[in-house]
Amino acid sequence: MKIKNLSMAFLCLASLGAKAQQGPVYLDPNAPLESRVQDALSRMTTHEKVRILHAQSKFTSAGVPRLGIRELHHSDGPHGVRAEVDWNSWNSANWNNDSIVAFPSLTCLAATWNREMSAIYGTAIGEEFAFRGKDLLLGPGTTIARMPLNGRSFEYMGEDPYLAGELAVPYIQNVQKSGVGCCLKHFFLNNQEVDRFTVNVNVSERAIYEIYLPAFKKCVQEGHVWTIMGSYNLWKNVHCCQNDELLNKILKQQWGFDGAVVSDWGGVTDTWQAALGGMDIEMGSYTNGKTVDQNLGWNKYFLADPFEELINEGKIPMDVLNDKAARVLRTIFRTSMNANKAIGSQCSEAHYDACQQIGEEGIVLLKNDKSILPLEASRYAKVLVVGENATRSLTEGGGSSELKTKFDISPLEGIKSIFGQVDYARGYVSGRALYDQTDKISPDTLASLRAEAIDAARKADLVIYVGGLNKNTHEDCEANDRLSYDLSFEQNELIAGLAKVNKNVVVVTFGGNPFATPWIGDVKAMLHCWYLGSMAGTSLANVLTGKVNPSGKLPVTWAVNQNDYPCFKYGQEGYPGVNKQVYYKEGIYVGYRYFDTNKVRPQFPFGYGLSYTTFKYGKATVSSPSLTSDGSVTVSVPVTNVGKVEGKEIVQLYIGDEKCSVDRPVKELKNFCKLSLKPGETKTATFTVRPSDLEFYDEAKHQFVAEPGMFKAYVCASETDVRSAVAFELK
Ligand code: GLC
Repeated sequence: MKIKNLSMAFLCLASLGAKAQQGPVYLDPNAPLESRVQDALSRMTTHEKVRILHAQSKFTSAGVPRLGIRELHHSDGPHGVRAEVDWNSWNSANWNNDSIVAFPSLTCLAATWNREMSAIYGTAIGEEFAFRGKDLLLGPGTTIARMPLNGRSFEYMGEDPYLAGELAVPYIQNVQKSGVGCCLKHFFLNNQEVDRFTVNVNVSERAIYEIYLPAFKKCVQEGHVWTIMGSYNLWKNVHCCQNDELLNKILKQQWGFDGAVVSDWGGVTDTWQAALGGMDIEMGSYTNGKTVDQNLGWNKYFLADPFEELINEGKIPMDVLNDKAARVLRTIFRTSMNANKAIGSQCSEAHYDACQQIGEEGIVLLKNDKSILPLEASRYAKVLVVGENATRSLTEGGGSSELKTKFDISPLEGIKSIFGQVDYARGYVSGRALYDQTDKISPDTLASLRAEAIDAARKADLVIYVGGLNKNTHEDCEANDRLSYDLSFEQNELIAGLAKVNKNVVVVTFGGNPFATPWIGDVKAMLHCWYLGSMAGTSLANVLTGKVNPSGKLPVTWAVNQNDYPCFKYGQEGYPGVNKQVYYKEGIYVGYRYFDTNKVRPQFPFGYGLSYTTFKYGKATVSSPSLTSDGSVTVSVPVTNVGKVEGKEIVQLYIGDEKCSVDRPVKELKNFCKLSLKPGETKTATFTVRPSDLEFYDEAKHQFVAEPGMFKAYVCASETDVRSAVAFELK
């Protein structure tokens, strides 16, 4: 070929290449995100912009088929990929390829106090969602545990905003690495299930900025969460799914959130409010189904035809629509049209390993008299396991976080792997978990099951009781709260009965909330496991035998009595509310902030958990006696494992303001780290303290301030176990 033709050929190819490049920018996966968004927006009609703002099925929101812009596939939930439901109903689609791994509950993750566990969790669950073809994972939840009867505490991460935020961020970052978006929920003040669609929360400005917003803010500003779910309840008498102050002023303007706000299913109730109140993707609203038109009535959504009319009539400016559509497009290009979206995997060994490891690190050892734990199998000839939670599925039920798993290793199976032969007595029965009712169990049935178990316990030389809460309605389940702080199904009588006839009772409980433990003095040991997911039996067995040394600590205060919690100090107004108005009169004094400041002794304090070894803390030191407003100080403390086995210790840093113009809690959690120590090993925990760690929210100035003066850094093994303290001054 002559040179001339050759160069012509090159030119031709180059122009072809260039031609290919000249396709729409929004289709170029390597184009900058904003240019893709703006290019797509410029090609869309008004109707197409409105279409992507709402559902087109139970769990998908529309794309733009004409332009090749894909829809979004949403899915629950925070602990694993929910089984497929029909296109436009809650009914199971009965697929046979959607059995998955159930990961431990998020309260279990919080109890690990381990940021690495959160990262491992996010990576694994993100791969499961990617493989199932999902674009948005409806979770995690950083609602603060204000009230210990809340049916959904198990989906959340405890009572302290610092801990919740720190352990949600790595989960979010690592899910999103797979090109699956998280949808942080429920934003905000969804602290109870009773009247969740209608209750209006009355709460001080200081309490929302110090307690209820910080975890969400950290997930937006550090976690860069791509979507956030508005909650059903009201704040300032406006539904959070259409609340201008919450979604536009705080979330989008103050915090700089650039993603999309998704409604909770049915959380939007008004076109004007949703349009001007910051809602971007309306899901789950009531539609009159197939009766209106072939689009299943989706055009009846509040942000569908009614909104489009207001735009076309010029009653709502086009830039309101463009902002919403841009946010949805940004979400689509980050997920369903993300060229780097992972293929992922389902039920891989790595995912089961993650499940097991997180479970092992989240189990909290609350009592261990005479070191009955770890168990030495050879010492026990006749082992009895009692309790329905030893065999019952704890991955089904619970509401929208329900899961259909490939398998679950039950606690009973795990315990059998330790001892080979064990006897089992059910001890109590809780009925089939139904979303809206629980079978009533006859007292006779419970009495006979209890008698049978106690009789068997007389002859055993070790009793392992496995009970607690479950995923029944009025237990740990969405849409209702618990009816009592006591364990249900007469478990207190059963445990007391077992302890009366056997001196070696080890209690293992599951559940997302604390509960009364009147029998705690009569049993040798207690482990609380939250929910451990598919590898429950293995995680539990490894901790019971000491193959894994327990290292979890409580992310909530565990009170002796229900009424020790501050939310119950104000009658019905404090919970569940009167005439759909609930009042958070305790203000910022939630959890340990209340118990510590008011000297109320908890059964087990926030941040408490035992180990099979012992850790000795040295003296805390501070790098400088004073701190200037633009500086920082470093607090250090040596920690030594003075026991015989390797273990992990969660070192907690709390800060107390010695003197302040407003009342403040005695101390507040501002940092933590988890040290792995071999016997005899010493490591030094170091924490940087900045002025922002010293601030409180000043309601007069509507901003955070730190007042100069003396502060104290408390280095703690639990909130009430101060190992060392050191003072410093803010200049
Ligand atoms: C439910 C829950 C929410 C869930 C959504 C979809 O009502 O409140 O957490 O993600 O609807 O199931």
